[in-house]
Amino acid sequence: MLDKKGFDLWADGYDKSVGLSDEDGSYPFAGYRQILNEIYNRVLAGNGRDVLDIGFGTGALTGKLYQQGCRIWGQDFSERMIALAKEKMPEAKLYQGDFSKGLVEELKGKRYDAVIATYSLHHLTDEGKIGFLKELMSLLKEDGCMFVGDVAFKTRGELERQKARIGDAWDADEIYFVVEELRKSFPLLNYEPFSFCAGLLSFRK
Ligand SMILES: C[S@@+](CC[C@H](N)C(=O)[O-])C[C@H]1O[C@@H](n2cnc3c(N)ncnc32)[C@H](O)[C@@H]1O
Repeated sequence: MLDKKGFDLWADGYDKSVGLSDEDGSYPFAGYRQILNEIYNRVLAGNGRDVLDIGFGTGALTGKLYQQGCRIWGQDFSERMIALAKEKMPEAKLYQGDFSKGLVEELKGKRYDAVIATYSLHHLTDEGKIGFLKELMSLLKEDGCMFVGDVAFKTRGELERQKARIGDAWDADEIYFVVEELRKSFPLLNYEPFSFCAGLLSFRK
């Protein structure tokens, strides 16, 4: 699993390497651009413009929402990712902090129209995901929505099938979403697959 330093080192080449994996439809980023586009469209179709991004990286998604007038808050632990995202969003409120230890205090006092986390929460254990997602949901405004785009599978069986097919390239350190297991804690969870290995999870209050 990449730590803060690993993400610092990956930051400058991140957009390019993710784009290549997406373009040739390979694990783990097959479907990446489509998922980000879908979230972009849905956030802009919503009523409000206050957006919280967890693990915003280079700001690939929120940078575009920022250009459309969204107010952006975010948390990431990589200094280099934060620096790159700040170039795209000088007025955004971007905080450094490890989300496996929770949200930074500065982000807790506000309510958001949309909470976004793309390709970041697979660094949490399944139990950690449930607790953190519940905390994030409590920060949504009444008609707000939380969008999680990530490597995900409908069932544990599907995850195991893909893991066997992908073989050595499978990253055993990452803990991917299994939708039917998560649904036990979030009965209203909506899931839309965008590739053989990734999809969009939407949560409403
Ligand atoms: C694969 S990148 C995804 C970036 C962006 N959301 C995207 O979709 O392109 C994961 C991001 O999450 C951040 N991240 C990973 N684990 C984290 C943690 N425990 N606390 C805070 N940020 C973390 C990394 O620094 C990185 O910027």
